[in-house]
Amino acid sequence: MEATEKKNACNSSEFRRSELSDTELEIVGQPYSISVLKVGYCLSQQDGSFRADGTISLLTGPRTILVDTGGPWDRDFLVKRLKDKRLDPGDISLVVGTHGHSDHVGNLGLFPAATIVVGCDISEGDRYLPNQLAEGQPYPIDEHVSIVPTPGHTGRDVSLLVKGTTMGTVLVAGDLFERCTDDDSWRELSENPAVQEASRQEALRTSDVIIPGHGLPFRVHREEADGRSG
Ligand SMILES: [Fe+2]
Repeated sequence: MEATEKKNACNSSEFRRSELSDTELEIVGQPYSISVLKVGYCLSQQDGSFRADGTISLLTGPRTILVDTGGPWDRDFLVKRLKDKRLDPGDISLVVGTHGHSDHVGNLGLFPAATIVVGCDISEGDRYLPNQLAEGQPYPIDEHVSIVPTPGHTGRDVSLLVKGTTMGTVLVAGDLFERCTDDDSWRELSENPAVQEASRQEALRTSDVIIPGHGLPFRVHREEADGRSG
């Protein structure tokens, strides 16, 4: 009994993680590919302030989807990065703001015609759509992509789960994870650490790659953990 419990604990929490490099920001997939347009950061300053910006990710495939928009200061940068991809803001059909912090949803105004998600709110223009994200239910976009509730950092965070990439299942996760090695920092930024810890463990159990809110994407080595336990 004790051994079984120990094994389960290892399975649920001891996944090794490894950060991708800044040359691995294009994750090819079928039918969706993911481009990290900006790698977020969070840097403490000597005066007690910190400089922060959120990661911006683009999905291309059957739908063209932006996950987080960066802060308002990123407006020109974002338009240029989309243009580099031969896209205008009007080509984005769905914008997912993982949570309502200004460094993640500062440019929603670029996308008035898109379906807009901010946390558990989903809107098309001024029409708000029924959903059960706040009750813990995913909101499928299609058979490959779904919005999943990942609360804790705030009460209403969501992430985008993308299946079928060459790196496996990818979770575009906002501030559920700050960065690959964030055990020193995520709790102090969390509105509900117990809830966030549960969301993090679920993410680590289900994702091969996680794109965090303020750092480079990282791999989750689930196969190794399975091998160790088996
Ligand atoms: Fe945040």
